[in-house]
Amino acid sequence: MTDLTTDKQTALAAIAAVGTLDALEEQRLAALGKKGWVSLALKTLGGMSPAERQEAAPAIQAVRAEIADAIDAKKAYLEAAALEAQLAAEKLDLTLPAPQSLRGSIHPVSQVMDELAEIFADLGFAVATGPEIEDDWHNFTALNMDESHPARAMHDTFYFPDAAPDGGQMLLRTHTSPVQIRTKKDVAAKNEGGAPIRIIAPGRVYRSDSDATHTPMFHQVEGLVVDRDIHLGHLKWTLETFFKAFFEREDIVLRLRPSYFPFTEPSVEVDVGYSNEGNRRVVGGHGDDEGHDWMELGGSGMVNARVLHSAGFDPEQWQGFAFGLGIDRIAMLKYGMNDLRAFFDGDPRWLAHYGFSPFDQPTLSAGVGARA
Ligand code: DAH
Repeated sequence: MTDLTTDKQTALAAIAAVGTLDALEEQRLAALGKKGWVSLALKTLGGMSPAERQEAAPAIQAVRAEIADAIDAKKAYLEAAALEAQLAAEKLDLTLPAPQSLRGSIHPVSQVMDELAEIFADLGFAVATGPEIEDDWHNFTALNMDESHPARAMHDTFYFPDAAPDGGQMLLRTHTSPVQIRTKKDVAAKNEGGAPIRIIAPGRVYRSDSDATHTPMFHQVEGLVVDRDIHLGHLKWTLETFFKAFFEREDIVLRLRPSYFPFTEPSVEVDVGYSNEGNRRVVGGHGDDEGHDWMELGGSGMVNARVLHSAGFDPEQWQGFAFGLGIDRIAMLKYGMNDLRAFFDGDPRWLAHYGFSPFDQPTLSAGVGARA
């Protein structure tokens, strides 16, 4: 029995000394494993007389239980220590500043399209759209620019090599005016001879033109009102009301200057009074006043009777006015940007500076952009 007691003391000391779960497992096998000394001691019971066995068995079982308890206790201790070490190693320092994540912004053109749509919606205008890949009938012919019309050449058109199904030519639309035609045709198809229309059509247009003030792709908004007894006074009031709301100024003065467009008669160019502040043009005031001048913002006029007719309207019953404005231009004026090309470079620094936060204001851009 002295052997057993010595072995037990040695084993308990070894168990107390181990520092890892692996080393503890070694100690368990050495004592309680199949060939461990406790197991071997238990096996000796078989060869004993009943009297010897009665004396030896409880002593060996007591040693076995003491060793097993010591191992369980040490195991629990080592596992807790391991967990604590892991928690300490994984600790997060919540006081560290978080890295800045890049956040997208609304492009000024999208922002301005939203503003346009909102202001014109207040005046009862719906947003209409048409394809950017157009045929030459909708882009030119129906707008009173037949094949030999010199205004066609002014448009520097991007043509597609393949002919349209009807034999015409396909092109990238050079202006938003074909949306006028498509809208009138749709309305005339449902209402024999015509019906009132009040739409704007914002979107991309394309011309083979590139310099400091021209990009091959740019944005226009077309406006179209058709009704009975419409005249130029309605056009002027509508544009004036729009520009006052858009530029957020009451002192907007418009000048309608006689001009020529094939699709309007009479035609006018729309100028707005402005002054220079530093190197920035600021809209407002009468262009003929001291320190002021006029700047062209777009074209407009009364829809030509031939254009109404080509889209299925009876010009004897219906009149209308139309206008076309450069969206990029009015965006630059409103938000003080002076290089058009920067609009389309996609430089994140420019966008971070001039872009609009999607969270500051409700925006329609997903809607308008998706349909344009
Ligand atoms: N479509 C013309 C252009 O791109 C602009 C324009 C002028 C549109 C007069 C109109 C209009 O609706 O009445 O140059």
